[in-house]
Amino acid sequence: MSSLPSVGVLVSGSGSNLQAIINAVEGGSIPGKIGVVISNKADAYGLVRARNHGIPTEFVDHRLFDSREAFDARLVEILRSYDIRLVCLAGFMRLLTPTFLSAFPERILNIHPALLPSFPGMHGPRDALNYGVRFSGCTVHFLDEGIDTGPIVAQAVVPVYEDDTEESLAARILKEEHRIYPMAIRLFLEGKLTISGEKVSTGNVGKISDFSRRNPDA
Ligand code: GRF
Repeated sequence: MSSLPSVGVLVSGSGSNLQAIINAVEGGSIPGKIGVVISNKADAYGLVRARNHGIPTEFVDHRLFDSREAFDARLVEILRSYDIRLVCLAGFMRLLTPTFLSAFPERILNIHPALLPSFPGMHGPRDALNYGVRFSGCTVHFLDEGIDTGPIVAQAVVPVYEDDTEESLAARILKEEHRIYPMAIRLFLEGKLTISGEKVSTGNVGKISDFSRRNPDA
């Protein structure tokens, strides 16, 4: 029996981040396995992706529960039954309550399509575009009780162009999500993430050479 730590991934939709995680696991760059993929939507394509790779899936219909806490308790029960070490939210469209958070303290990651703490909420790329920022990006963070808040693990930056649409910007950001989410999971499973207060340290003090950018490139 393999003793690799198990990751549980929660999805509600397409699951392209899930696919990036699957690819990293299969490519050997994540020292773990995906134990289960759970969705609150029966038709989430993420469930198909998981099944295509022989990963167990569970559909939990949130509409059948009387409260958010009861739904969360069921999720916790499933994740525990798969002996999940780390929970990754990957486009999971339900707010989680303290019932869930307290079951996995400092063991839940989320990915958000903006450079937090800017532009939390449902429409990161749209809000960034409407605000007129010149750069946006994505953030992997530990989950806390807030909406898209919690200690930041990794971020990636992309330019925002004047002819961007919400779709073109979201696509540019998504590409970076696929890079940093597997990286953050690897760092977690390697035991390299230390949370102190609001901050996460990775022990890596290497600097990015020449990261000076401007937009517009005039
Ligand atoms: C991503 O943009 C992620 O940041 C957000 O929801 C989207 C999920 O996309 N939380 P996918 O289902 O992984 O393709």
